[in-house]
Amino acid sequence: MSRRTAPLLDETAIVAAQGYTWLPGLRRAAPNGVARTRVLGQRAVGLCGEDATRFFYDEDHVRRQTAIPGPVQSTLFGHDAVHTLDGDAHRRRKSLFLSVLTPHAVADLTRSVADAWDAEVAAWGSGRHEVLFDAASRVLTRGVCRWAGVPLEDREVAPLARDLTSMVDGFATLGPRHWRARRARGRREAWLAGVVEEARAGSVPVPPGSALEQVARHRDEHGEPLEPRLAAVELLNVVRPTVAVCWFVSFAAHALHRWPAHRQPLASGDTGAARASTHEIRRFYPFAPFLGGRAVRDLMWRGEPIPKGALVLLDVYGRNHDPATWDDPYAFRPERFADRPIGAFDLIPQGGGDPATGHRCPGEGATVGLLETLVMRLAATDYRVPDQDLAISLRRVPAKVRSGFVVDPV
Ligand code: HEM
Repeated sequence: MSRRTAPLLDETAIVAAQGYTWLPGLRRAAPNGVARTRVLGQRAVGLCGEDATRFFYDEDHVRRQTAIPGPVQSTLFGHDAVHTLDGDAHRRRKSLFLSVLTPHAVADLTRSVADAWDAEVAAWGSGRHEVLFDAASRVLTRGVCRWAGVPLEDREVAPLARDLTSMVDGFATLGPRHWRARRARGRREAWLAGVVEEARAGSVPVPPGSALEQVARHRDEHGEPLEPRLAAVELLNVVRPTVAVCWFVSFAAHALHRWPAHRQPLASGDTGAARASTHEIRRFYPFAPFLGGRAVRDLMWRGEPIPKGALVLLDVYGRNHDPATWDDPYAFRPERFADRPIGAFDLIPQGGGDPATGHRCPGEGATVGLLETLVMRLAATDYRVPDQDLAISLRRVPAKVRSGFVVDPV
């Protein structure tokens, strides 16, 4: 039997064991770099490269409906979220995110989070240990909820931050982290569905133009409002990934510790250096391992057939470390982004293509803005780094600095 048609062993357990290295390894071993495998009981083909990214983002080739596994929807995205839609329904729902995340709104969000950071750091006393991942998650939770119009009392900030980070932390495992994520999502969808209903009834104040207001009054392609649970899912799809920027903040601290020469320009407020560091952090450190869609018809890629209905996996981690695009890809070198235009299909930690028409992350501008601001503030903060486990395992998805990055404020 040929390699193209041979029944293959299901690799789901191997994906879980190998994490970020699974798809790159499989591609290296395959002719043409096109990996053929079987995951979740389905045929799958793994691709990487600039052309592969363009191929993947063409809706005539790959669509998302039925491609995102239930356990990922039950934790990370929510069921029936924008991530699972195609065609007109997708573009209509996507327009909601684009109008919530205009450059002007992103500037407001960044200011709100910066204020929350300044308040958090002002309260740090010397002689204390602070886990930066947790501190950043609280700062982002406070900042994004204030900006989004989501009512939140001070005492609710830490538990909400824990629930939001749990939803991200548990999507790629079926162990205890997964069940924590499901419980967190159930709790928070119920809570925000209630907030949306109150907003519609006029019984809570709703800041004009806020994410809460826009989600509450959004109409689908049939002119219908989102039912409250779905509105909560999409409001969470603004709030949750904003808080996930805490992953990048702890990676930033890791980078400043490993390569301290980068600190000074950032501490002195060099915005060009902050932009370059932000891109390099998003490229270098592992976050989304790969993206999945489904072949809409029999396709051909580099002479290799991809049968209709097969899963098509785009290797995001592999693309961000692709030597065809990135010189010395495993070196942390923010300078590579000085004056470098970024193509729609080359730096893809948040997806590729056009965010308005395809599935590329609509929060990329917000992520970059937040990370630039927080990286400069972090570099300007005086702290010592005590002994701790700073390992980042490529087997764990999503990867994390094992200690959460502990700092001793000075
Ligand atoms: C989609 C990563 C921050 C909202 C995505 C995708 C990735 C991603 C990989 C999938 C792209 C695809 O399916 O083709 C990240 C990372 C972030 C981040 C690593 C930083 C921690 C944000 C922020 C927001 C956001 C701040 C909103 C405020 C969304 C939404 C989608 C999405 C709504 C679905 C888009 C669609 O399916 O059309 N993101 N994101 N993300 N992201 Fe982000």
